Amino acid sequence: MDWGLKNRLSRIIRPDGRTVMLAVDHGYFLGPTTGLEDAKGTIGPLLPYADALMPARGIVRTSVDASTDTPLVLRVSGGNSILGELSDEGITVAMEDAMRLNVSAVALSIYVGAPNQKETLLNLSRLVDEGHRYGIPVLAVTAVGKDMARDARYLALCCRIAAELGAHFVKTYYCEGFEKVVKTCPVPLVMAGGKKLPELDALELTHNAIQRGAAGVDMGRNIFQAEDPVAMIQAVNAIVHKNVTPKKAYELYKGLKRQKKGAKRR
Ligand code: R5P
Repeated sequence: MDWGLKNRLSRIIRPDGRTVMLAVDHGYFLGPTTGLEDAKGTIGPLLPYADALMPARGIVRTSVDASTDTPLVLRVSGGNSILGELSDEGITVAMEDAMRLNVSAVALSIYVGAPNQKETLLNLSRLVDEGHRYGIPVLAVTAVGKDMARDARYLALCCRIAAELGAHFVKTYYCEGFEKVVKTCPVPLVMAGGKKLPELDALELTHNAIQRGAAGVDMGRNIFQAEDPVAMIQAVNAIVHKNVTPKKAYELYKGLKRQKKGAKRR
């Protein structure tokens, strides 16, 4: 692997082999997602606790402090919306503009088994070629079409295809038999959080994924839609980097939340 590419990847996946990525790219096909209506207000307080931030470029330029040290994993696929065919995606950002934004990686979705499977897989291949030209790693997001089952057989298929086409790391959902998905994927795999769960359940999900070999999480709604997002990202971080139990992480969450309430009252 080229030195520059390796260096960028090492800013995202920390020396312990783990990462807490904060996903805030939902608006690129969902519009003003709950919790991200005021993207700047949501992202600012969370940034110091994230190993990497995953936004689309419009949000970088309007809502992310340019003095941040947090590496960016830029969403560079889109062209679809929740009102249309989800798999109908193309590449939306030129690599030159990604470089201008000083990104540490680029991310795009692949839709295996969906109507535009071939297009999205060829997009990945093209992006990997460009990534190698400029030393930029590529994250493949195994997006799931509306009718696809999120089981180990299907997710392992998606992750392996992504890695075979050259993705440097892969993002996928947790499922029963997740260890099989991890074991058959030769590049680091981060878990997507999915829909908002009660905080303890989200921490258990994080713990399960890490125990079964994930390199970390790329989590959005379970952080920024939590009652206290800043406390939640710290609890997730404690599981990912310090291997604490979900119960301990939940206690940390509740403690940090109480402290904040106390400070507000004073
Ligand atoms: C979906 O395609 C987006 O890439 C989101 O970033 C991803 O779903 C992760 O966010 P969440 O944890 O909210 O599912």
